[in-house]
Amino acid sequence: MTPRAEPLPFEFAEPLALVADRLGCFAGNILWYSEVTSTNDVAAVLAEQRPGEGSVVLANAQSSGRGRQGRPWVSPAGAGLYVSIVLRPPPHAVTLVTIAAGVAVADGIQTATGLDVQLKWPNDVQIGGRKVAGLLAEASSSTAVPSVQHVILGVGINVMAAAYPPEIASRATSLEGELGRPVDRGLLLAECLSSLAARYESLRRGDIAPVVGAWRARAAATLGRSVRWEAAGHACEGIAENIDDAGALLVRTAAGQVRVISGEVRWT
Ligand code: BTN
Repeated sequence: MTPRAEPLPFEFAEPLALVADRLGCFAGNILWYSEVTSTNDVAAVLAEQRPGEGSVVLANAQSSGRGRQGRPWVSPAGAGLYVSIVLRPPPHAVTLVTIAAGVAVADGIQTATGLDVQLKWPNDVQIGGRKVAGLLAEASSSTAVPSVQHVILGVGINVMAAAYPPEIASRATSLEGELGRPVDRGLLLAECLSSLAARYESLRRGDIAPVVGAWRARAAATLGRSVRWEAAGHACEGIAENIDDAGALLVRTAAGQVRVISGEVRWT
């Protein structure tokens, strides 16, 4: 059963009101919950109940937050930003949703905090080589309508160090840990959402080059590095060179250039 939405706290309502004219389709239905299993679950139910796109689900805590590859996303109360958005991208934009979202979250964090943020394919948001935010896009289609019907875009940002388990401290970081001061979650959300509204609108109208170009600029530190992955049971390796206009990673291998579209890639 979906929990009942609660009034949006002032911490978020005020900064969102200040950027309302830049929120595009995300302005209309922003829902707040103290705790949910996963904001992606709540957003998926909403997507079935409501036509249109742009509903935003925010939670203070998640009891079963999830990350990519079936990993848990630890989500203690108040320590992070946990948000999911219902999108209905046109077919040409589906594979670029996480690329646009990575750029938007990196830009939003940088505007709200001044921190220098980098991206690593497919969807890690990093500061100084450590992960500060993750993106999880879950697409739905049915056999009756084989094209993608909606994409739930989940974004998790480590605001406090308490947002991630201490045993992954060599690979993870938080905004407050980097800055050494408290971070305004409302301002952070307002900047990330307004940036996403602009980037998503760009994707929708087919104006892909600025989105992909901004992604490449933020991934400069990782492009050029070697990667390993598995394909059809075979271990593969090469040098990550670029992403293409569909968001796939282009890797130079001994056998030529290979497009990697999904699955686990290990950066070495
Ligand atoms: C990753 O593995 O990097 C993706 C992490 C995505 C976490 C966010 S938090 C909000 C939304 N709800 C979830 O259960 N997961 C995503």
